This record gives sequence, C-alpha cells and structure tokens, in this order.
Amino acid sequence: TILILDFGSQYTQLIARKIREISVYCEIHPYYHLPASLSHVKGVILSGSPFSVNDSNAPKPDLSSLIGRVPILGICYGAQLLTFINGGKVGASGLREYGRAKLKIMDHRNPLFKNLPSYSQVWMSHGDTIDELPEDFIPIASTEDVINAAFQIQDRNIWGIQFHPEVYHTEYGMDILKNFALDICGCHQTWTPESFIESSIQSLRKKIGSEKVVLGLSGGVDSTVAAVLLSEAIGDQLYCIFVNNGLLRKNEYHHVLHQYRDMGLNVKGVDASDRFLDALAGISDPEQKRKVIGRVFIEVFDEEALTIEDVTFLAQGTIYPDVIESASVAGPSATIKSHHNVGGLPEVMKLKVIEPLRMLFKDEVRKVGTALGIPDELLGRHPFPGPGLAIRILGEVTREKIALVQEADYIFIKGLKEEGLYDKVWQAGVVLLNSKSVGVMGDERTYEHAIVLRAVHSTDGMTADWVHLPYDFLAKISNHIINRVNGINRVVYDISSKPPATIEWE
Ligand code: XMP
Repeated sequence: TILILDFGSQYTQLIARKIREISVYCEIHPYYHLPASLSHVKGVILSGSPFSVNDSNAPKPDLSSLIGRVPILGICYGAQLLTFINGGKVGASGLREYGRAKLKIMDHRNPLFKNLPSYSQVWMSHGDTIDELPEDFIPIASTEDVINAAFQIQDRNIWGIQFHPEVYHTEYGMDILKNFALDICGCHQTWTPESFIESSIQSLRKKIGSEKVVLGLSGGVDSTVAAVLLSEAIGDQLYCIFVNNGLLRKNEYHHVLHQYRDMGLNVKGVDASDRFLDALAGISDPEQKRKVIGRVFIEVFDEEALTIEDVTFLAQGTIYPDVIESASVAGPSATIKSHHNVGGLPEVMKLKVIEPLRMLFKDEVRKVGTALGIPDELLGRHPFPGPGLAIRILGEVTREKIALVQEADYIFIKGLKEEGLYDKVWQAGVVLLNSKSVGVMGDERTYEHAIVLRAVHSTDGMTADWVHLPYDFLAKISNHIINRVNGINRVVYDISSKPPATIEWE
C-alpha cells in the first residue's frame, strides 16, 4: 500500500487514481489521521495544500512515525513542508507559478527520474517556492523559474518535487510515480479488477455466511456492479429491489429490469409510480421534492425488504470518493454531495451495512464491471439523479409533464446515440420550463411548453462545461421534438457551465 497524506489539495484524489492506474493499491488519509496500522504501508506521498507552510494555522503533522521507516515523496506543499521542518526557507514566489514549465534534470542517476529525458514538460501550481534547501538536501532538478524544483535528502529515501506528477500536462508524471511506487517503494502491481473481484468474493462469503442481503438497484453503474459482485459471491442469498418511482426515463423501468434478469440477478421490480406522484402533487420547491421522493423511497424499500424473511445485511453501492475522509477546508464538495444521498436507509432498517465498492474510484468500478461481464451499455450509462425527472420539471410535477419530458428526452438521447455522441458526453437530458410561450403551427397560434436540452462534459459532476454539440444535430433534435411531442413548441440549448450554473436546473 501507498499511503497518501492529504493536506487538502484539489489534486489528492488524482494522485490516488494515478497510483491505482499503475495497479498499486493506495489509500488517502487526512494528514491528522494516520491509519491504525502502518504494517502494510510501503511508501508515503505528501499531497499539496491550499496553505502556505508559513501560515500560522498550516498543517504540520508529526511525521516521525513515517520518516526513516518508508520512502516519502512530497509533492508541492509536501515538498515545502519537508523543507520547512528541516530548517530550509520557503517564501512567497511573488508571482503565482501556474501552468507549464520545462524541467531540467540535474541528477540523471536519481532513481526517481529513471527513464526520464534531460528536459521535459511539467505542470506547476503553487504560490510559494523553496528559496533555500537545508544543508543535506540535494537539488536534483530545476526549471527556469524554480531553482529547487526537485530534491532528495542526502542518503535518505525522501524526495520532494514542486511540480505535479499526477496531472496530465506533466509529460513523464506517470514514470515518476511508477519509479517511486515500484522501484523505490517496491510495491507489487497486484491491484487489478480480477484480483479485486477474487478477494472481494472471498471476504464477502466469509462475512455473509448463509445470511441474506438486500440491495436497492437504481439502474446506475455503482449499484449494478455491487449487485453482480455480491451475486457472484452469494448467489440467491442476494435480494435486489428495483423501485419504479415513475420519474425514470421512458421505458427505462422495464428495459433495465429485463437487463438485470438477463444478468441472472435475483431482482424484484416494484412499480410504486402512483405513490410517488401522488405524494408529489402540489409541491414545487426543489428541496421539498427531493425530501418527498427520499421519504417515499425509504417507505417502499422498507416494506419490500420486510417481506424478505430474516434479512441481515443491507448492501449499498457506495464508492471511495464518498467515504474519503477529506482534509479539504470544507469546500463546495461538502454541501453539493449532501443532497445526492437519498439515504437514511441503514438507520431506518437497522440492518448491517455492506459496501463492497467502498474502496473503488468510479473508473475502477467500471473496470470491475467489465471484468464481471456486465454489458457496456449498462456501464457506460450517463449519471442520472436519484429524484429523476422530478428535478428536471421546474415547479410542480404532473403526469402530463412527465410524459412530455420522457418523450423529448427519448428523442434527444436516441439522437446522441445514433450520431455517436452519447459516449462523448458525460451527462445529458432535458428540462421542462414552467412557463409557456407563443408559437405558430400551420395557421394556428400555439401556447405551449418550452424544453431545454442540456449536455455537459465533466469528470465528477463537481465542475462541468456545456458540450459544443454540432448545430446540425441540434437543429435535427429541435425539429423532431417540436414535430413529435405534442405540447412543446420551443427548444433551447443550455450554454452555461458549472460553476456558476449547475448541471441540473433544480
Ligand atoms: P448539479 O445540478 O448539482 O449536479 O450540478 C451534479 C450531479 O449530481 C446529480 N444530482 C443529483 N443526484 N440526487 C442525485 O442522486 C440529487 O438530488 C441530485 N441533484 C443533482 C446531477 O444529475 C449531476 O450528475
């Protein structure tokens, strides 16, 4: 294991994903919370941070249990911290150094730089710079603006680099991380989807024994992969429940239910559409809608789960980004994430929780899904919000409006697939506005709904950019929708990015 100590950098998770890409297992821990046992730790990476080491409240943990025990690589703030605690000088660099720089390697034989050319491009992002290295720190690389761009402490397995090896723009970043994890720390490349599946199956069998497990399928990637993995481990001791809340895409409930059955899952479909839609009647506030949907879901799920005799465990498709104890200065992620969890189930049901994917990043979940034989169509699906179309219908949700959104959404998504655009977009859908507008059709004046097309690029939903869909494509979709969906006479395209807008409109 590589231990990544998080000092709050926006790049910490990226470091972890890059290490995992080398097939080496790693974990992120906040700088103030070392894992209970260090026996598996073969190396430590210190992350960057929004702080300056000169700030009075800057994180300066006691690293004595790590130093000398395992190799350490400090990145950005991590490198500055190593410098600072050993008596070197770190100062504000005057200009914020941000962006590309050319790295010149001085020590070609340094194991951290194995297979690197003398000059290469690196990515800088820092306000402070290392002005003066402590005596036994050997500079091993520099850039034009940053003299101490990399160092090693003499005769010790401790390195610091000012640039970011984890970002795409650092040409040989992966080589540096590989050199560190494989050559310097001696980690084995055993973290593969196959080995994860094998060890998970064993540990799930051991943990569950002959007990029963209930799991709520959502149609999304995480719950699907969790279900198939559990099903491989315990077969029909796994009871899956797939609830139709009446707010899914057109045909989705039946289509996905069939796919689940085809995969051999023991799944029960529960069509509770009326219950959800009745409960939503008269409600137009977005947070209120979310609450109602969350509450009804728990009720329905609870009732269904109670029909399974002697069930002991509740399985969930929680993934690593949801459980990382982050050292970030409570940024927007803390608040944005909260509304995604329709949760509360474990308290309600008093079941023991199993989260077989809790150590995986999203891309790893997909790889495990592929290795488990789950069809690409399911694994490549766009994210879809738990409250479904309810938050894509501005204002009150009615059956008529749902039908309009479903039809328009169907045309849009089908079009994206036919044009080979679906996989290039992170998420897409339509939003029904709660105002009408005037139009003409034939000789008649119409007064009907306007619909918004939304398509975004993103990696995690935290930031997003609108997709520059071809005009011809937009024209075709607009025509199809207006001609075929009775009740819509206007189509607009959302060209806002997040921030400052959000992906959904509610
Ligand atoms: P926003 O609109 O916050 O959306 O930019 C970011 C991502 O989160 C999804 N989203 C939700 N998912 N329950 C969910 O399960 C919700 O209440 C919810 N609200 C937004 C949204 O679809 C996008 O992928």
